[in-house]
Amino acid sequence: MRPSTASAKSVAFSPQPYNIEPRRRTQSRPLNMEKQVFEKYDGSQVTESMLQEASELFSDHYGVWGEHAAKVLGEFAKAGSQVRISKRRLRAEYLPDGSTCSYVRVTVNGSLAGNAFACRWVCNKRTICWVTQLVVHQDYRERGLAMGLLNQLQNYDDDIYGLMSSHPAACLAAAKAFGNSINTVRLDFIKEHAEEIMRASPIQYVKDAKLCGSVFDPEDANGLVSSVDTGFWIDHTEPSEALAWARDMVDWPLGELHDGHEFLLILGVRRRFRSRPTSRPKAVS
Ligand SMILES: CC(C)(COP(=O)(O)OP(=O)(O)OC[C@H]1O[C@@H](n2cnc3c(N)ncnc32)[C@H](O)[C@@H]1OP(=O)(O)O)[C@@H](O)C(=O)NCCC(=O)NCCS
Repeated sequence: MRPSTASAKSVAFSPQPYNIEPRRRTQSRPLNMEKQVFEKYDGSQVTESMLQEASELFSDHYGVWGEHAAKVLGEFAKAGSQVRISKRRLRAEYLPDGSTCSYVRVTVNGSLAGNAFACRWVCNKRTICWVTQLVVHQDYRERGLAMGLLNQLQNYDDDIYGLMSSHPAACLAAAKAFGNSINTVRLDFIKEHAEEIMRASPIQYVKDAKLCGSVFDPEDANGLVSSVDTGFWIDHTEPSEALAWARDMVDWPLGELHDGHEFLLILGVRRRFRSRPTSRPKAVS
């Protein structure tokens, strides 16, 4: 889940496992979370000022470039510097012309605390809802806002949800919001549908992502299970800490996280009563 790195060269680095202790960020100071307002917009309703705020949130809070990024992408991606995106690129890459996109955001006491972009397309008569970006302000993390944003994104007509992310918390939130929990994710479903769904995407970086891991290649012995090579060389220190922590807590199904790669999560919605929109659909478990 990333701004496109169009100039990315293909560079092979041997996977460097981060030797990291499980660590969950502690909520260091009490925060007044009293007034949370979630808003949902169609892509066509997203204004320039909303995109400006989204660009600032992303550029200040998404993460920093990793150690190999500059070699692969160019000097702008200096290790340790913030990954940034302009409002122009947000519109071009997350709300492309002719696509069906949504934007949700949450303010806490009037300040933008998190947001998410999603794109919908149809593949084999099924509506795919793909979360293309999710970011929560660092001060407001681990308070359920990512879960809340993903809950807002859901439409009754969605058949399949997808997301690529290097952050295990994004996968945990999506698995819970769109399904039951990360433990009920079906790898066989991902194996069967990933290729056709992603190649049909109007979002270029989803379309171009290279499927990796033992789900797609039983010979893969690198520890990857359900992954994509997106050439997004973001620093993985925080996601790796979260991964170590998640592994202590749950039976983590998506495997290792390698530099330049992201986890791939795809969930199918099970509907017993298609004609009754009163009960909320849950992902197949
Ligand atoms: C990933 C991100 C959006 C999560 O936002 P958040 O609001 O903190 O997430 P939530 O509070 O809704 O938590 C979702 C789940 O992840 C867990 N989680 C959140 N942060 C965690 C961490 N650092 N370590 C371990 N687990 C974590 C939560 O406990 C929760 O799981 P649970 O329901 O089983 O308890 C946020 O960390 C972020 O913006 N990261 C930087 C950008 C990024 O990587 N985005 C995702 C890829 S596009």
